[in-house]
Amino acid sequence: MTPSTLSSQPLLKDAYHRVIRDLRVSVTERCNYKCFYCKPEFGFREARSRAGIMSYEEITHLTRLFVGMGVEKVRLTGGEPLLRRGIEDLVSMLSDIEGLADIAMTTNGHLLVSKARKLRDAGLHRLTVSLDSLRRERFASITGQDSLEQVMNGLRAAEDAGFSPIKINAVIVRGINDDEIEDFAHFSRETGHIVRFIEFMPLDEDKRWSHDKVVPQSEMIQRLRGVGQLVEKGRSYSSETASTFSYADGRGNIGIIAPVTAPFCGQCSRLRLTAEGKLRTCLFSLDDHDLLKPLRENVDDSVLIEMIRTITWRKEAGHKIGKQDFSYPNRSMSLIGG
Ligand code: GTP
Ligand code: 5AD
Repeated sequence: MTPSTLSSQPLLKDAYHRVIRDLRVSVTERCNYKCFYCKPEFGFREARSRAGIMSYEEITHLTRLFVGMGVEKVRLTGGEPLLRRGIEDLVSMLSDIEGLADIAMTTNGHLLVSKARKLRDAGLHRLTVSLDSLRRERFASITGQDSLEQVMNGLRAAEDAGFSPIKINAVIVRGINDDEIEDFAHFSRETGHIVRFIEFMPLDEDKRWSHDKVVPQSEMIQRLRGVGQLVEKGRSYSSETASTFSYADGRGNIGIIAPVTAPFCGQCSRLRLTAEGKLRTCLFSLDDHDLLKPLRENVDDSVLIEMIRTITWRKEAGHKIGKQDFSYPNRSMSLIGG
């Protein structure tokens, strides 16, 4: 296919008229943290061999196909994306794709001190840092690493490198960190970071999720009101995962992501590519589809594009959390790529 035919493809849609604009690419299954909601407490899986995961050239090749079909945003995830050697080279390769307006990354922040500047220089637009506690000991017990200070330094390095605003993702789990909602609100007011509270979803490999561990959005809002006069701002674009809020005095930016009590599947514009090149149409998919094998067999781009269209057309209407026929997905979050 010539570059001009590639960039003038019809939009990528599913059977429910949703247009795909957002591709999440996991660059590694490895992680240096072991948060219980993401990884099992015991029994880490061995990392796949290098040959089993997509090379940067392969990621760039596939991303170019998606961008040709209307994808505008790419988010690099993992595992922990900063563990992949030379990740800034991938950012730089993606930056060269015409039509790709937004390159973002979700990281645990552990390696940002040394990486933030390189990522910025390579063309990364936006950063989200997962951070579930502002208390040193609790942070250590959630992640298995006594490194809250290091993440805080990473956040400062990211600001110095020019990332602004930075988003913070905090998964709120009843009995674990739900007493920190107000602290996180103050943290946002003090730092200018956008703090997003996420309802806990059943994605943990050891299946410890239960409904009573979910802190519903309504309760979070009530608690946030205790900090000041909360102003609802809604969503800035229809497929935004978070509904957003600020405080009347202009300080603090809050998002609430409520996939359990207020699912946003009807507006979903996302697809996911796992580190080993499997296309997933939903976080909760029960299967995924290998794109890497045909890519390595050098099939024509038109064949890959047709495969992607067929798979996308069958994207699930929505997840079934809380319903009788819910099944855990075939991979935990760390193997999907947040
Ligand atoms: P922006 O591009 O900045 O809007 O970020 P984002 O919210 O799209 O991305 P991020 O990866 O930070 O997603 C935030 C959280 O929303 C994730 O950690 C998940 O908990 C949840 N989430 C993201 N995508 C989906 C999805 O497709 N389905 C469900 N149920 N939850 C999702
Ligand atoms: N429920 C909600 N969010 C989750 N994340 C990981 N596991 C879960 C879960 N079970 C979020 C993390 C991170 C992103 C990659 O996914 O907080 O920000």
